[in-house]
Amino acid sequence: MTRLLVSLLLTAGLGTAAYAADDQKLIEDANGFFDPIPTMVQAPENNAITREKVELGKMLYFDPRLSSSHLLSCNTCHNLGLAGTDLQPTSVGHGWQRGPRNAPTVLNSVFNIAQFWDGRAADLKAQAVGPMQAAVEMNSTPDEVVAVLNSMPEYKERFDVVFSGDEDPVTLDNVAKAIEAFEVTLVTPASRFDQFLDGNANALNDKEKHGLSLFMEKGCVSCHSGVNVGGQDYFPFGVVEKPGADILPPDDKGRFAVTHTATDEYVFRAGTLRNIALTAPYFHSGQVWSLRQAVQVMATAQLGTELTEDEVDSMVAFLHTLTGEQPQVDYPILPASTDETPRPVL
Ligand code: HEM
Ligand code: HEM
Repeated sequence: MTRLLVSLLLTAGLGTAAYAADDQKLIEDANGFFDPIPTMVQAPENNAITREKVELGKMLYFDPRLSSSHLLSCNTCHNLGLAGTDLQPTSVGHGWQRGPRNAPTVLNSVFNIAQFWDGRAADLKAQAVGPMQAAVEMNSTPDEVVAVLNSMPEYKERFDVVFSGDEDPVTLDNVAKAIEAFEVTLVTPASRFDQFLDGNANALNDKEKHGLSLFMEKGCVSCHSGVNVGGQDYFPFGVVEKPGADILPPDDKGRFAVTHTATDEYVFRAGTLRNIALTAPYFHSGQVWSLRQAVQVMATAQLGTELTEDEVDSMVAFLHTLTGEQPQVDYPILPASTDETPRPVL
């Protein structure tokens, strides 16, 4: 009995030692592919970040008067209470029109190689001027946006302070700069996965660790790596096997519309998997509601492999550990409209 007890204790002891060594190896391997989300705000090129600029950007982000109907703000489709998404298959914008693509989260978007599913905007500033003018989104014009802002003294004062060196501070370009400054603060550090990368082996349980190993061994990392576990490069959707037309609609050729190169047909930016458990439905078409199914689609379409149920479970468990601390954003009180403020047009 005593001998059995001693042997059990020894085995358990050995098991722990071997396991700890495995953990270290897994942490090292993972650090070869991924980086934790930095806690410091990363300043974009040519757009110094100041507290006043971030505050102004936040107001603009939440102000529906940047849309012609005065009903739609950036936050309508990138709701910061919902991990920066609208939870729609594809977004609904001006006049209840449904756009062609799913709205990606704005959280951590500063770490993506470029913006949009096809990377057509180089950075957040270039991106921000798009939705205000898009007919299916906010349906406004640069002149209207400037007229709306100039009609409210508080906005004028804030632009004067933030862009004090400019002759004409209230411009669409400065609106975009302020929104960009706010957006770079929208990062989600300290997920359990980040803690694991930082060396805390207990931050993930066994199943999640198994999922992480599978994610690396099966080859998901060849497209989903770096800080954002994706968002770094473009790949054909359906490298091995094209998904059905519901998931990959034939009329959206992705990056081909940007580069006009035949090899870019149906090429899309690999999505970031940060906070992926919160941002269903999935893919640019937004037709897949379950993360399990999204993982299975990726395995067959991108890797030409069938995962077992157990493997899918573990990978999904791992993907849940990518949920980080959500930014705490106080809802801004916006300046009151005046007699000069253009009226809403539905
Ligand atoms: C894409 C920000 C308004 C729907 C994006 C992206 C950002 C962003 C940063 C790229 C994210 C990425 O590629 O990972 C903003 C800002 C807005 C705004 C700052 C306000 C000025 C809206 C509105 C809607 C919307 C009102 C819905 C009506 C979408 C969609 C995409 C997108 C569908 C993906 C489009 C594509 O890839 O072709 N937005 N957004 N956005 N946003 Fe917005
Ligand atoms: C999108 C997971 C392998 C390229 C996605 C999404 C998930 C995912 C959950 C949806 C993101 C979203 O909707 O926001 C995985 C897993 C993989 C894997 C678990 C391994 C089993 C790969 C590989 C590649 C790749 C190997 C490149 C060859 C892409 C692309 C998208 C994407 C291009 C965007 C597709 C679109 O909607 O147009 N991945 N992925 N993935 N992934 Fe993967």
